[in-house]
Amino acid sequence: MIEVQDLWFRYPESDYVLKGISLEVPRQSYVAILGENGAGKTTLVKHFNGLLKPTRGKVLVCGLDTREHSVASLARRVGLVFQNPDHQLFANTVYEEVAFALKNFGFPEEEVKRRVEAILAELELDRYRDRSPFLLSMGERKRVALASVLCYEPDVLVLDEPTTGQDHKQKEKLAELLQRLVDKGKTVVVVTHDVEFVADHIPISIILSRGQIRGQGKTLELLSNEDLLAETFLFPPQLTAILWKLSKLGLHPAPSVEEVVEAMLQARRQSP
Ligand SMILES: Nc1ncnc2c1ncn2[C@@H]1O[C@H](COP(=O)(O)OP(=O)(O)O)[C@@H](O)[C@H]1O
Ligand SMILES: [Mg+2]
Repeated sequence: MIEVQDLWFRYPESDYVLKGISLEVPRQSYVAILGENGAGKTTLVKHFNGLLKPTRGKVLVCGLDTREHSVASLARRVGLVFQNPDHQLFANTVYEEVAFALKNFGFPEEEVKRRVEAILAELELDRYRDRSPFLLSMGERKRVALASVLCYEPDVLVLDEPTTGQDHKQKEKLAELLQRLVDKGKTVVVVTHDVEFVADHIPISIILSRGQIRGQGKTLELLSNEDLLAETFLFPPQLTAILWKLSKLGLHPAPSVEEVVEAMLQARRQSP
C-alpha cells in the first residue's frame, strides 16, 4: 500500500533529516511509527501523501510514485491528520471544516450532509457544529481535524500524534474508532511517542531515531527490548518498567503481573 525505498530527505539548508529509510506498510495493516522528538516522524509521513518529495529514493502509494502525482490525487487515498490541527483548520465553523474536503471531492450535497452529521456525532463534536474550530480546546480541534479526513474515507489514514491533548476516555474512544477502521479493511498508521497507547492498541511498530529505522516488528517485542529503547530515547510502558526493575531486584525470570502484585502486597506486609 505504501512503499518507501531508500528515502533520503533534507529541508533546504538542513542536513539530512531522513537517512535511507526503507519500509512497507501493507494493505489493511495497523502500524505505529514511534520515535523521540525530532526523530523525523512527521517529515516521513508527509512523504506518504506527497506533501514532501524525496531528495533521494522513492515513495510509492498504491503503486504510484509520489514524485509523479499531485498531492490532491494522493490525498484522496492517504488522509493525513496533522500533528498541529491549527495547520489544517481554516473554516468558520466546525460543520464547514468537515464538509470542505467532501465538497471538494465532489460528493453530492445530501451525502455531504449525511457524512458530516455522522462523523460529528461519532467524535462527540455535534454540539460544536456551528462554532469556530478555533474556539475549541486543543483536544477538540484535533478531533475536528480527524473528522475532516475521516469523512471522505481514505484507504490509508495517517494520524500524527493523535493522543496529544486527549484525556484517557478520549484515547480509549480513539483506539476503538481506529480498530473499527482496521476491521473495515482500512490501513491505519499512527505516529506517536505515546508508548502506552501503542503498547495497548497497535500490534506492529516501526521505531525511528535520528532519521533512521532502528526497529521494526511486533510492538510488544520491540517495547520489551531494553537496549533498543535506551538507544532510541524511548521510555518503556510503565508496566514493563516495573517488571524490569523487579526482575533486577531478584525476581527471576521476568515476573508476571500477578507476581508483581504479590510482591507489592508482601512488601506492604513486611514494612513496619
Ligand atoms: N520545515 C523545516 N525546515 C528545516 N528543518 C525542519 C523542518 N521541519 C522539521 N525540521 C527538522 O527536521 C527534524 C525532524 O523533525 P520532525 O520530522 O518534525 O520530527 P518528529 O516528528 O519525529 O518530532 C528536526 O531536527 C526538525 O528540527
Ligand atoms: Mg512530529
